[in-house]
Amino acid sequence: MRKLYIAMMGLPARGKTTVSSKLLEGLAQEDLNVKIFNNGDLRRQILGEASSHPEFYSPENKDGVGARENLALMNMERAKAFLAGDGDVAILDATNVSAERRRVVQKTLTDHPLLWVECRNDDQDLVEASILRKTRLPEFASLSEADAVASFKQRIEYYESIFSPLGNEPCWVRVDSLRNRILDEQLSHNVPYYVTIRDILVSDWIRNLYLVRHGQTLYNMEGRIGGDSELTHQGLEQAEALGRHFKGFSIPYIFTSTRRRSHQTAAPICRGQQHCTMKALPEFDEINAGICEHMRYEEIKRTWPNEYRRRQKDKYNYIYPEGEGYVAMKERVDKGLRKALYLSGNAEALMIVGHQAINRMILSYFLFRRTEDVPFIYIPQDQYFHIVSTQKKKLFEQVRFTGRH
Ligand code: F6P
Repeated sequence: MRKLYIAMMGLPARGKTTVSSKLLEGLAQEDLNVKIFNNGDLRRQILGEASSHPEFYSPENKDGVGARENLALMNMERAKAFLAGDGDVAILDATNVSAERRRVVQKTLTDHPLLWVECRNDDQDLVEASILRKTRLPEFASLSEADAVASFKQRIEYYESIFSPLGNEPCWVRVDSLRNRILDEQLSHNVPYYVTIRDILVSDWIRNLYLVRHGQTLYNMEGRIGGDSELTHQGLEQAEALGRHFKGFSIPYIFTSTRRRSHQTAAPICRGQQHCTMKALPEFDEINAGICEHMRYEEIKRTWPNEYRRRQKDKYNYIYPEGEGYVAMKERVDKGLRKALYLSGNAEALMIVGHQAINRMILSYFLFRRTEDVPFIYIPQDQYFHIVSTQKKKLFEQVRFTGRH
């Protein structure tokens, strides 16, 4: 069996670790023995807090440069030993942003082919959110959130100052790690498993997505649309039932909208978890019904008969005056989903607590429905959707978590 080194490349917070773990999982499914050698983990293990200070990363700091060089060499030796034994693919997860470092890697790992995988992410919002997530690492425990963010940003600046893109290396692929797209590639010799690797890199990797709709609200009871109403007694019971249902599951990330009904539904689920981060994304806010917000459908029919008729005729493409429509929401929901997947970083599971129209749009990525049928997908409040979508596995199930209403 042919053996391979994969070396990651990219600035901090650009998704290298997530892509590495996707590669590990995908290649392991091909019955390959794969292991990740992460320089950051090794640094934390060996140097601990001493290496969390931004100056440790300054290219001017000879001791810091030397210490990081040693860690890199140590992992290279470990990777070599792994492939010399029964390992098939060794993934070196490190920034490797300077051409000089890559020359060292290229010179050290000569016994098997080496593929570079560069991770790019140009979405500044997401980089910021990802930095915030990093600051929760134990190495920043002694700093306030603001100081930890400043420290991490300084670290990134140092990496930026020595960054040079891939280009001269014999085999490399550049990936947009947010959209899972190949941006560029160059292979000057045959790379084992490349067809599989390419497919893994462009696949969305959803180990378990639980898509939940918020519980019943006052507005739902009154048949009003939009707004920011709270859960009713029944809605709160549904949220508690969800909390009980998911207690045995591990859900490390829950994404909500910025609306109270979404947050109130997610809260008991999060409370029932040992480790759970809840994050509100405005991309998951319910469709904005513009001039029709807060109204009942019969009121809309009476007050805005033309609008009502136009929506009846083409619900998907209709846009509420001063508001949105399904067609107009596509981009933001897509962005929300990408954000949620990126921020949860190939976690075992993530949950989205959304709304009727939002959940329809999310489901449309996984269900083969005609566009015009998307606004009619059934989104119950006593059931949720469980979705798995990796390179080799697709699963879709609708699960009832409470008794019939
Ligand atoms: O009725 C609840 C609700 O979430 C409203 O806030 C929203 O306008 C509506 O569902 C979306 O469903 P439809 O597109 O079928 O009107």
